Amino acid sequence: MASLTLKNVKKRFGHVEVLKGIDIAIDDGDFLVLVGPSGCGKSTLLNMIAGLDSISDGDVSIGDAVINDLHPADRDIAMVFQSYALYPNMTVSQNISFGLEMRKVPKPERDKKIGDVSAMLQIEHLLKRKPGQLSGGQRQRVAMGRALVRDPKIFLFDEPLSNLDAKLRVDMRTEIKRLHQRLNATIVYVTHDQIEAMTLATKIAVMKDGELQQLGSPAQVYDDPANTFVATFMGSPSMNLIDAKVEAANTGIVQLVLEGYDGRPQLVSLDCTVRGLEGYVGKTVHLGVRPEDITESDREGVDTLTCKVDVTEPTGADTYVITSLGGKEVVARMPANAGLKAGDITELRFNPEKLVLFDTKTGHRIR
Ligand SMILES: Nc1ncnc2c1ncn2[C@@H]1O[C@H](COP(=O)(O)OP(=O)(O)O)[C@@H](O)[C@H]1O
Ligand SMILES: [Mg+2]
Repeated sequence: MASLTLKNVKKRFGHVEVLKGIDIAIDDGDFLVLVGPSGCGKSTLLNMIAGLDSISDGDVSIGDAVINDLHPADRDIAMVFQSYALYPNMTVSQNISFGLEMRKVPKPERDKKIGDVSAMLQIEHLLKRKPGQLSGGQRQRVAMGRALVRDPKIFLFDEPLSNLDAKLRVDMRTEIKRLHQRLNATIVYVTHDQIEAMTLATKIAVMKDGELQQLGSPAQVYDDPANTFVATFMGSPSMNLIDAKVEAANTGIVQLVLEGYDGRPQLVSLDCTVRGLEGYVGKTVHLGVRPEDITESDREGVDTLTCKVDVTEPTGADTYVITSLGGKEVVARMPANAGLKAGDITELRFNPEKLVLFDTKTGHRIR
């Protein structure tokens, strides 16, 4: 296993720059998830690490060695694709051992590895079957088995679960996480699914349009988003962004004015420190608050907001309460027994410790 460093990595297809200078460093044993909307350059970056796409600029290093010019076969990397890419005419056992045979690993050692890996993935009973006789989830396991027997420096996964149905996807996600905990492997994993990213990663790289938006732990990316893109991409339902005018920004207390449900301005004083906000007094900012950080308040007062319930959506465990503030729809995640219904006027409280403010022009977090 090994660390991985990307230094100012760029990719051009003809005149089009699809990766615009990516800097990422992960440690040995990290589980890095590259997440972002379709087309943002995740697969291209993964393919460059694998050696399947050339590197237009910058350096990719495994451990201390720059591998830009190393042939894919010499990079000691194993890759699992979304399409599984199994050989249809070979049995499961042959599919798993093929790479080892190519490397001239002696048969007894091959058999031992197949035994170990198939036990780990619970596919021992499938070893004599061909891919056509397997379900999607079983094929996915075989594809993982083929990577695992290699014992490589780094595992690369490109959306390995996106062809599976919802239930199986969740099961396999847990299995991949368990595998990572057991092997302590270095993994780079591509997905467009922010929940997969949050649940699996030790480090998340959020990408958009070929640029890295933020690199951090799942908690950092979720609680301290660098900009409005990261704030709204990570988390479901999305973080609410409400337009608010900064009235005063003294140390410890921020006063904001926003348009209430009745169209009239409401003043809210928040007991939170946001450095650098003095320059925004008199200006409008985006106030970011996650649905779970909005609660009902039993009093009227400084830090509560009067809202009118527009719609309620019970999901079983929680109820989403939809209201509007600052001219925008605001979603609150409340307990199932919250007891609010459409048309109710209620006092809501935003958890001041979790509020974030963004510059409306740049989208950058104001800290
Ligand atoms: N071989 C190629 N030639 C030209 N453009 C490409 C090629 N491969 C990918 N692209 C473009 O690069 C961008 C990133 O693609 P990709 O890495 O597949 O995105 P993602 O995996 O995030 O969905 C897209 O705009 C895509 O059209
Ligand atoms: Mg892709």
